Amino acid sequence: MNSKVALLVAGLVVALVLVIGRQGAVAPQAMNTPSQAVVAGPVAAPVAFPQTQYPQATNVAMPVEPDPAAAAGATAATESPLPNFVPRKLTVFEGHWQGMDGRLMTEELARKLNYPRGLQGVLLGEVTLNAAFSGLLAGDVIVRIDDTPVTDMESFKAASRIVANRSEARISVLRKDNRPGAPVVRKLTVVLREAEGGLGFAQLEGAPMILAGDPRPHGYRGACTDCHPIGQGFELTPDPDLISLPPPTITRDMVARNVSPHEVRGPCEACHVIK
Ligand code: HEC
Ligand code: HEC
Repeated sequence: MNSKVALLVAGLVVALVLVIGRQGAVAPQAMNTPSQAVVAGPVAAPVAFPQTQYPQATNVAMPVEPDPAAAAGATAATESPLPNFVPRKLTVFEGHWQGMDGRLMTEELARKLNYPRGLQGVLLGEVTLNAAFSGLLAGDVIVRIDDTPVTDMESFKAASRIVANRSEARISVLRKDNRPGAPVVRKLTVVLREAEGGLGFAQLEGAPMILAGDPRPHGYRGACTDCHPIGQGFELTPDPDLISLPPPTITRDMVARNVSPHEVRGPCEACHVIK
């Protein structure tokens, strides 16, 4: 083939690719498409989502410091922050009541923790305070509060509301035998008591906020936004529950004397600033 013709063909192909590429870019897709991110004023305006696609979504604009360059009339393109995406309708996962830390029992959990399949209720992950005094244990699955059945987080809250002003309530749970093999559960009922001001009612929580790029550490459970808000600033990192604080500055003397409150983790200077 003549080299001029080849060049022409190549040029046409490149032009075609460019046109197709542009058309692709205007389709509404990611929440942070550059076309949406360019904001005229110094303050980021809320970005509207196509309502048909996310009818339950709100988009919370993060307040940003006015960019001095933009204020001075310069045309420097500023990088807008990613929007925080807080779905209006979130699947609820966790509930707290009188020292109980409960979460929705799911098939996935039943399988992982070896509970009978199809079991419905609120699995206690942790008990403290009045829940512990009443005899409840972590691993118990709440199935009834007084006469109201508990099958999920919503019915847990509703059942707790009924007894909110009482000073005691019967809590029925399924408790698993820790024998190996097929799971065996037995039902037992304890009395939950609160001397001061009634039992109050359960408070619910959703799954933690995640970043737009986070990988999924669990099995597929559906669209991420069914359960997770996407964004920043909803969760403290590192998680204060884990008490893994940044290593403090230590002295040369501590290093020399090998004073360490923790187990051997490696050379001190790998993690600590030494002064
Ligand atoms: C049906 C609800 C549900 C869906 C859908 C879901 N998750 Fe989760 N996710 C959870 C819950 C609940 C947790 C808390 C830990 C657990 O139970 O596994 C969690 C934990 C996480 C965590 C750990 C967060 C932390 O701070 O500990 C990440 C990351 C995560 N999910 C990412 C994703 C991604 C990505 C998707 C979409 C592909 C997704 N999840 C879909 C319910 C869900
Ligand atoms: C892999 C990282 C790592 C290494 C290596 C390490 N540390 Fe630490 N250190 C930490 C962290 C994180 C903390 C914060 C508390 C915790 O997590 O235990 C800490 C806490 C301490 C503290 C407590 C200081 C305070 O003010 O509370 C001392 C003292 C200390 N380390 C000494 C040492 C010495 C001495 C060495 C070397 C022999 C060493 N560490 C090696 C991560 C490390």
